[in-house]
Amino acid sequence: MIPNTIKSKDHVNSEVWDNLYQQRKSLLSYPDSTFVTLLHRYLTTVKHRQILDYGFGGGANMRVMLKRGHNVDGIEISDTVIEINNQILEEQNLSATLHNVQSHEALPFADEKFDAVVAWHVLGYNSLSSLQSRIGEFIRVLKSGGCFIGTMPAYGDVSHDSGEAKDAFEFVSKVPTQEGAQIVCFESEQAVCDAFNLDMSVALLQSPLMDGSFSRHWVFLYEK
Ligand SMILES: C[S@@+](CC[C@H](N)C(=O)[O-])C[C@H]1O[C@@H](n2cnc3c(N)ncnc32)[C@H](O)[C@@H]1O
Repeated sequence: MIPNTIKSKDHVNSEVWDNLYQQRKSLLSYPDSTFVTLLHRYLTTVKHRQILDYGFGGGANMRVMLKRGHNVDGIEISDTVIEINNQILEEQNLSATLHNVQSHEALPFADEKFDAVVAWHVLGYNSLSSLQSRIGEFIRVLKSGGCFIGTMPAYGDVSHDSGEAKDAFEFVSKVPTQEGAQIVCFESEQAVCDAFNLDMSVALLQSPLMDGSFSRHWVFLYEK
C-alpha cells in the first residue's frame, strides 16, 4: 500500500517519466548544490515552514528540506516515483505528503497555503499553456510575502539543442531517455519573465556535461 498518495489521470510527459522511473533511471541520489545554496540563502525554517516541492523526482532536494525542518508537500506525475520516495522516506524516518497531480489539473491546495514553492528542473517539461496555468496555480497557493524558486531550460541546453522545435518556445525532446517529452525553453531572462508574467530575479546557470553539451538553465526567484 502507498501511504499519503493521491492518484489521478495520465498525461503525455507522465508516460515518459514513469517509464524512466520503472527502470530506476534518472533517480538522482544527491541534492543539487545550487538549489541547496539558494535554500540556505533565501528560505528560513521559521518564515518558510510550509513548502511545495513541485516535481520532486528522486527526492534528494526534498529530503534536504525535510532534514532542515521544513514541512513539505510534494507533487509528481509518476506513481512509480511517488512509491519509491515513500519507501525512502519511511526508511529514513522522514515524512512528507506526496500527490500525483497532472499538468492540466488544479493543485489540490487552498489559496495561500505555502510559504515557498520550489520547482527545480521540472517546469521545462510542459507546453507553454500548461506552464502558464501551473504558474497561475503556484501564485494562488503561495502566501503573500512567500518565495517561488525554480529553473527553466535556456537556449543551448542539451534538451533544446537536440530537440525538435514546434515554435520559438516549445520543443519535443530527442534526448534518448526523454524522447517525446514536451519541453519549453527560453532564450533570455526577459522571455522567462514575460511568459511567467512576473517581475522576478533571473540568472543563468550553466555547467558542462562532459560530452561537449551543456546543461543551461535560468534560475529564478520571485517574492509575492
Ligand atoms: C529532471 S527531474 C527533476 C527532479 C527534481 N526536482 C530534482 O531537481 O532532482 C524532472 C521531474 O519532473 C517531473 N515532471 C515532468 N513533467 C512534469 C509536469 N508537467 N508536471 C509535474 N512534474 C513533471 C518528472 O516526473 C521528473 O520527476
